[in-house]
Amino acid sequence: MPWSTKYWGRKQFADLVKDKIVEVISAKLDVKSPCSVSSVPFTLADLGCSVGPNTVIAMQNFMEAIKLKYQDQGPAHSQILPQFQVFFNDQVLNDFNTLFRSLPQDRQYFAAGVAGSFCGRLFPESSIHFVYSSTALHWLSRVPEELRDRNSAAWNKGRIHYTSAPDEVIKAYSAHFAKDMQIFFDDRAKEIVSGGMMVLIIPASDDKLPRSQDAFGITFNCMASSLMDMVKLLKMKWIPSTYQCTAHVQMKWKR
Ligand SMILES: C[S@@+](CC[C@H](N)C(=O)[O-])C[C@H]1O[C@@H](n2cnc3c(N)ncnc32)[C@H](O)[C@@H]1O
Repeated sequence: MPWSTKYWGRKQFADLVKDKIVEVISAKLDVKSPCSVSSVPFTLADLGCSVGPNTVIAMQNFMEAIKLKYQDQGPAHSQILPQFQVFFNDQVLNDFNTLFRSLPQDRQYFAAGVAGSFCGRLFPESSIHFVYSSTALHWLSRVPEELRDRNSAAWNKGRIHYTSAPDEVIKAYSAHFAKDMQIFFDDRAKEIVSGGMMVLIIPASDDKLPRSQDAFGITFNCMASSLMDMVKLLKMKWIPSTYQCTAHVQMKWKR
C-alpha cells in the first residue's frame, strides 16, 4: 500500500504547501542563471520520494510553476522553455518499479531513479536546479549507537523511540539528527546550481506539549507496547526506531 493511502497526512502536507511553493518559485527562483539555454535541461530532484503518487503530483506542480515563471519573463524566455529532467531518489530498497510503472505515459519530462541515502552525495557538482523533500528528512540515517549500549546513560531499554525516555536518549537522537542535517546541507550545497532552490517539508512537534502527549509520541508509545508484547511472545530481536521529531533540535539550532 503506498504511503499516500497508508498515511493521510502526507498528501495533506503537500496540498497545504502547494500554493506557497508555487508563490515562492514565482518570487524567488532565478530562471536567468539556472538554465538560460534551452539545450541545458532544468533538473529537479525529489529526495525520499517513496513510491508515489505524491511525488508525481508534486513534481508536476513544480514544473508548471517553473514554466509559468519562464513565461512571465517575456516572449524571449517563453520560446526557450527548458527540457525537464526529474530524479526520483530514495533508499536502495525503495520500490522503484512501482514508482516508474505509475508515472504518467504522457509526461513531459525525463525521469530517472537515484537510489541511495540523501545523507551522502547523490549528484555531480552544480547539476541540480530544484530540490524537494517532503516528510523524509526526519528519518535518521541510522540508530544512534548509544541507544543499544547497555553501559551508556542513553541505553533505551524497552522503548523504540525517545518518547517517555530520559534526556540522554533525547540528546542522542538530537545529536545524530544534527549530524545528518549537516551532511545533508553540505552535500546539497555542492550539488545545487547557483540560483537554484530547495524546498523541504519536515514534520515537527510542539515544544509546549509533553512528548508523550503529541500525536507522534502517542503513536510510538502504542507501537512500542505492541512490539514489546510480540518480543515477549516470540522472543524477537529489539530494533529501535530512527524516527526523529525536530522540535527540540530546532531549539538547539536557534541558539
Ligand atoms: C514518509 S515517506 C515520504 C514519501 C514522499 N516524499 C511523500 O511525501 O509522500 C519517507 C520516505 O523517505 C525515505 N528516506 C528516509 N531516509 C532516507 C534517506 N536517508 N535517503 C533517502 N531516502 C530516505 C524513506 O525510504 C521513505 O520512502
